Amino acid sequence: MALYSKTVMEHFMHPGNVGEIKNADGVGTVGNPVCGDLMTVYVQVKAGKIADIKFKTFGCAAALATSDMICDLAKGSTLEQAAELTRANVAGSLGGLPPIKMHCSNLAADALHEALYDYYKRAGLKIPATLAKEHEARKKTAHR
Ligand code: FES
Repeated sequence: MALYSKTVMEHFMHPGNVGEIKNADGVGTVGNPVCGDLMTVYVQVKAGKIADIKFKTFGCAAALATSDMICDLAKGSTLEQAAELTRANVAGSLGGLPPIKMHCSNLAADALHEALYDYYKRAGLKIPATLAKEHEARKKTAHR
């Protein structure tokens, strides 16, 4: 049986959202403490929605595919909807991930939430409690 679903392989082979946004409104970088891989998500926000989103990932196939998928899921959504995207949403949209690779999907939602946190902070807006709580928890476990 193939390790990865067809959807994972498509996103891995042809990631449409890879890149960087110059002058992004929010940037989030997270590291995976299990393997040391890194992911950065860039967001551009217009009228309370994610107008554009890109990522850069130094990681495995699952990390790349989940990065690309989180961008697809978040693009065009409101900030509130984007903040509610979870690791399970990403893995589910990819048709599942092998159990040994589930930890790789953690990076995607975490990097997006970190970018949203950065956006609220830079814009001088009140940071939603869930994003602030996640940010504090990540600071304690970060290997950076
Ligand atoms: S092995 Fe590092 S993110 Fe998958």
